[in-house]
Amino acid sequence: MAEVVIVENADAAGALVAAEIVELIDGRPDAVLGLATGSTPLPVYQALRSRLAGRDVLPVRGFALDEYVGLDPAHPESYRSVITRDVVEPLGLDPRRIHVPNGAQATIQHAGDDYETAIDAAGGVDLQILGIGTDGHIGFNEPGSSFASRTRVKTLTEQTREDNARFFDSIDDVPRHCITQGLGTILRARHLVLLAFGEGKAQAVADAVEGPLSAILPGSAIQLHPHATVVVDEAAASRLRLADYYRYTYANKPDWQGI
Ligand code: GLP
Repeated sequence: MAEVVIVENADAAGALVAAEIVELIDGRPDAVLGLATGSTPLPVYQALRSRLAGRDVLPVRGFALDEYVGLDPAHPESYRSVITRDVVEPLGLDPRRIHVPNGAQATIQHAGDDYETAIDAAGGVDLQILGIGTDGHIGFNEPGSSFASRTRVKTLTEQTREDNARFFDSIDDVPRHCITQGLGTILRARHLVLLAFGEGKAQAVADAVEGPLSAILPGSAIQLHPHATVVVDEAAASRLRLADYYRYTYANKPDWQGI
């Protein structure tokens, strides 16, 4: 199962994951990062700012998890814009090396296959950052997504549209479709790091980490991965049955073992 690390707060989580990413880039300057949007990964990107300042990060490559379909990439809430604003610009990455699925309607028929080809051509994702939706989705793989799925178009649930309405003027502006890396795509990344903070994520985290493997809870797919790390604060960890064991395991972790 995944390694669960319970930290004091989101900043501590950001520092921990940023350190892992810096180590990865130290060993491989053109490392391939799997980038997530949403509010959850922001502490990681924030922590990376100071840690990567002054370094040559131009070789770093990246693939975002998902994008809305039919939203102008220039729209401030397209994931292309979000990744540019939150990750590419503050960290000084090369925008040409940072990919986001293409949600344009004109090319949507082959956009999923194109994205899979691009990930494969890059040699796969080294470290995939993940958040989790309140309904257990990762990327935009809504409940019912196949564990073998590849990048493709999905229909957003009303719950997700409501959750994301805060970024738009009204819920009517939230697109109904998205293009997302599949669960099978995500599972091919070499290291998964799922973050979650706050009570609102506690049930989804418990279901993903300790619940049955089920397409109804897409996050449970991480249990199939040989190297998955779940970094949560106390509130998001509050429904984990084995929380004490995770704390004990982490406190007694050998120094030579990273996350
Ligand atoms: C969106 C994104 C997911 C993200 C989720 C949770 O639906 N597509 O990748 O994990 O929101 O967002 P937040 O981190 O803001 O709670």
